[in-house]
Amino acid sequence: MTKEEAKQKIRELSSLINDHNYRYYVLSDPKISDYDFDMMLEELINLENEYPEFSEADSPTQRIGGYITKDFVTVKHKYPMLSLGNTYSEKEIIDFDKRVKKTIGEDFFYICELKYDGVAIGLTYKNGLLHTAVTRGDGIQGDDVSANVKTIRTIPIKLMGDDYPDEFEIRGEIFIPLNAFEKINKERINNGETAFANPRNSASGSLKMQDSSLVAKRPLECCLYNIIGEHLSYDNHYDNLQKAKKWGFKISNYIAKCNGVEEIFEFINYWNNERKNLNFDIDGVVIKVNSYALQKKLGYTAKSPRWAIAYKFKAERAITELLSISYQVGRTGTITPVANLQAVQLAGTTVKRASLHNADIMQKLDIRIGDHVFVEKGGDIIPKIIAVDLNKRQADAMPEIFIDKCPECNSILSRKEGEVHHYCLNDSDCPPQIKGKLEHFISRKAMNIESLGEGKIEILYDHDMLRTVADLYNLGFEELFGLEKTHEATENKKEKKTSFREKTAKNILNGIEESKNVPFERVLFALGIRYVGETVAKKLAYHYKNINALQSITFEELVLVDEIGEKIAESIIQYFSDERNLHLIRRLQANGLQFELSSTSGLIIENKFNGSTFVVSGVFESLSRSEIKKLIEEYGGRNLSSISSKTNYLLAGANMGPSKLKKVKELGINIISENDFKEMIGLQ
Ligand code: IVH
Repeated sequence: MTKEEAKQKIRELSSLINDHNYRYYVLSDPKISDYDFDMMLEELINLENEYPEFSEADSPTQRIGGYITKDFVTVKHKYPMLSLGNTYSEKEIIDFDKRVKKTIGEDFFYICELKYDGVAIGLTYKNGLLHTAVTRGDGIQGDDVSANVKTIRTIPIKLMGDDYPDEFEIRGEIFIPLNAFEKINKERINNGETAFANPRNSASGSLKMQDSSLVAKRPLECCLYNIIGEHLSYDNHYDNLQKAKKWGFKISNYIAKCNGVEEIFEFINYWNNERKNLNFDIDGVVIKVNSYALQKKLGYTAKSPRWAIAYKFKAERAITELLSISYQVGRTGTITPVANLQAVQLAGTTVKRASLHNADIMQKLDIRIGDHVFVEKGGDIIPKIIAVDLNKRQADAMPEIFIDKCPECNSILSRKEGEVHHYCLNDSDCPPQIKGKLEHFISRKAMNIESLGEGKIEILYDHDMLRTVADLYNLGFEELFGLEKTHEATENKKEKKTSFREKTAKNILNGIEESKNVPFERVLFALGIRYVGETVAKKLAYHYKNINALQSITFEELVLVDEIGEKIAESIIQYFSDERNLHLIRRLQANGLQFELSSTSGLIIENKFNGSTFVVSGVFESLSRSEIKKLIEEYGGRNLSSISSKTNYLLAGANMGPSKLKKVKELGINIISENDFKEMIGLQ
């Protein structure tokens, strides 16, 4: 392929892929299979790697992410990001309409829209290209989250058509659809991570992640509802939104032109009922005067426009009685108080339980057994206890005292200063903690022993065959084959006892055997050290290379490692200072588990780079970014997360941002390509 042909092909592929992206994500009308799409994208990535100079400004490879943002840059909003006056009362909507009519005194209409419950974002486009994406912040200035926002497929990087203003800003809300939110939370719980409280938190958490390639994996969407600029196509809100749709933006279809309050209430009532059928959260309806001239006439208060108002839906609420409070013990010993309620109907489901979260929240509510409590279902999936009806409190109701012993193992609970949770520290003898640890150990991202699952772990536990994860490696065929499922599940099925078949037993043993090849970083994650998730485990494994080095580390040394904070460091030190954990590790080592980085995953193979520092940025052709980083460490180099005068090399993949390149050039840092890098270490 000649250079000219490559340039042409890159242009063609970029525009074709962008078009398919738009069809898939914005129109929900794909025209090609996922496989064909992936093939096209791969071809483009390869070409951009070979000819980075031809990478198009709107390249869809930006959707894959690859930039690391250490600290988000604060940017001042060109137009302040105001909030809306909001109300829960119909009367205030009528008053709003009266005020508006008084100022306007002519015929006009309102636009009613849904009020998305997500994270506000302002997108600036210059000459048809997405220039910056900034969060609301304090309304005057926000964070530049452009790299992360570029991974959101419903946000165009390059606009379609040619009739857009040279520069304008469009604002909207970034959110995670409800079905995707549930999936993310299930995965997080499986990984021992804390679940997001609601979709809004998961969206804002995603936007603030440092690694945009991880953001790309989050199913974020964006709906736009406000366009601002000097030379817009029309003199009113509605027509400009419809125009923006043609440029490739996702604009809500649930918009109505309303003539007066009656039509506004029709819209409100319809969506108050219908919102339960949407796949995203809304918390109300926004009512806006359509004409810009009239908006100008109405003007602004210090905080919000006088031409718009938000009507917020009341969260559905019910009253019921608190029967008892129970305490649950999680995998890492966290104690969660749970309210057991007299069953009550709320927003279409029967509610019997609600989390009370922790002692502080219980104390704040001053909740007592027998109290009548208000239960609400707002944006959160789990119902919440909002308050106690003190009028109905029995005279003899006693304040609830948080338990001081573990409900499962009776050991004394601990609550450290500054922590909200009580913990059971008896992690080696407390049944839910033991089972939780075993389940975590065998899970997919840890040791991946698929032939075992929660149910089987429970059976083996009930038979006293498993007390620590090391016991897994003592299991033999004779014990497993024919083992009776005395587990509750079979009792429910009217005592119909079944037992492990030969194949089941063999599969379990094979799975356990194979787990001996699982690399060190995953073994470290599998140990279930509090706050050591997948990413931290990797970081530690690459940094310390083997368990011995990690075991002898001090707190002071640990906190110096990139991304390891005090909380994590303290937990690691505590884990390795416990003789029982050291004993467990010795047993696992004796059974042949990997407690050293394999030569292909991180030990220094050859000290070629001798401590030189690298920043890896962009999208690469034959190696993933993490493989490259691993190689850098294997050859004695060090990875830094952002460019500074301390950087020796910038390893640049496809799609490096121009500002980054400029900074690198100014600092005189060596820029090397993937191929240069491979040559340096003799890979080609
Ligand atoms: S218009 C001048 N329209 O609600 C204000 N806002 O409290 C222009 N929101 O900051 C905002 N859905 O984050 C507008 N259809 C919608 C909206 C919406 C959600 C959010 C937005 C805004 C906040 C107002």
